[in-house]
Amino acid sequence: MNPAYHSYNLIKIRQAIPALLQTHHCHPVIYLNGPGGTQVPRCVPEAMSHYLLETNSNLGAPFSASIKTGKIMEEARRAAAAFFNARDWREISFGQNMTSVVFNFSRALSNTWQPGDNIILTELDHDSNVSPWVMAAREKGVEIRYWPVNLEGMTLDLEDLEPLLDSRTRLLAVTMASNLVGSIINIKEAVRIAKQVEAHVFIDVTHACAHLSIDVQELGCDSMACSAYKFSGPHLGILYGRLEVMQLIPAYKVPHAADLCPSKWEQGTQNFEALAGLVAILKYKAGMAGNGDLTTANLHAAMQMIFNYERKLIQRFLEGLSSFPALAEWDRYGLFNVGTDVNARTPTFSFRIPGQTPEETTRWFAEEGVFTASGHFHCSGVINKLGLDELGGVWRLGFAYYTTIEEIDRLLEKMNQYAQSARVLNSTCILTQ
Ligand SMILES: Cc1ncc(COP(=O)(O)O)c(C=O)c1O
Repeated sequence: MNPAYHSYNLIKIRQAIPALLQTHHCHPVIYLNGPGGTQVPRCVPEAMSHYLLETNSNLGAPFSASIKTGKIMEEARRAAAAFFNARDWREISFGQNMTSVVFNFSRALSNTWQPGDNIILTELDHDSNVSPWVMAAREKGVEIRYWPVNLEGMTLDLEDLEPLLDSRTRLLAVTMASNLVGSIINIKEAVRIAKQVEAHVFIDVTHACAHLSIDVQELGCDSMACSAYKFSGPHLGILYGRLEVMQLIPAYKVPHAADLCPSKWEQGTQNFEALAGLVAILKYKAGMAGNGDLTTANLHAAMQMIFNYERKLIQRFLEGLSSFPALAEWDRYGLFNVGTDVNARTPTFSFRIPGQTPEETTRWFAEEGVFTASGHFHCSGVINKLGLDELGGVWRLGFAYYTTIEEIDRLLEKMNQYAQSARVLNSTCILTQ
């Protein structure tokens, strides 16, 4: 069947995810912590335990478990290559998580930089796509330039990028979507602009990979990284790097490690059980929209279905908020700022409730069985610009492909209830001062 004709089977999706059946004080829990990691369908831990119980071995030995381990590794590379529409499975390598993958890659790429060069980072990015590059640049005497975040739209405006570039620009490291406020960046255009000066473009797709189709050939980036637990996979870092670029960069590695892509980018023995889990989650996603074959067509059709479904969730939440009486009193980072264009954002929202710390808000909702998160979420650039670092950051909630409309309605009811109780707490607080 053509993947485009599949319908979104939410009941089937949710039945496969045991965590969604948990209850708290007799009510079903609501997991809204997706930006910090999504819940997993049963097939993922099953594949991982099957690997460990039946196939556990290191690579390179002439017995079946070792041979199967090599096959799982190659299948995982092919699956991830299909997910990102990479041309070649040798463009995919693995590590512990996105952060360690970037630290490793930044050590290698920075060996190609000279004093007097410059790199461009952004104020919107997660620190994992900032700090590794900052450390590398400082060691090499390379200038760091920041693409400023526009707080009005929580965006990175393309007209602010162009003046930062020159013939000594070696890198643009930028996120595809903000894990703090959900804004989606016009990455394709950013790549085009950076390529005018032949800068290496590295994209952080760690937040985006849960919500958007990613096509590296269409984007034209050189490299990119994410963590699989953001799209219901295991805790595993994935690095994509364009073959002709990656072959030329000397890797940061021990002498006996392989010299060829993709192995030259991997540190030590890999997490084979996580690779089995990665194959399982991508087969599961491919099955949402097609016959389960690990093709880009199936995987991108699934991501398109997820994208369309998440528009409905965003729409319902925004409509609910607009009729929500206490809303005007709340600071809404990510709501008004990102705007109400449902196509310009992921379903991730951040707030501050007057008189409440984000941690207090998170605790109140957790007591009600609504699992959200609070803090700075490693987005120092935006958080500092908003002056929120000392104030505990923001309260963040994120919907995922398994969130239901009913859960959003219950969330809105709880928000309303909380706004009433928060107002009571505020006035109590003022009275006692
Ligand atoms: C956008 C973004 N980039 C990078 C990271 C770092 O990922 P990891 O903790 O898997 O290294 C995260 C984690 O939340 C993220 O959301």
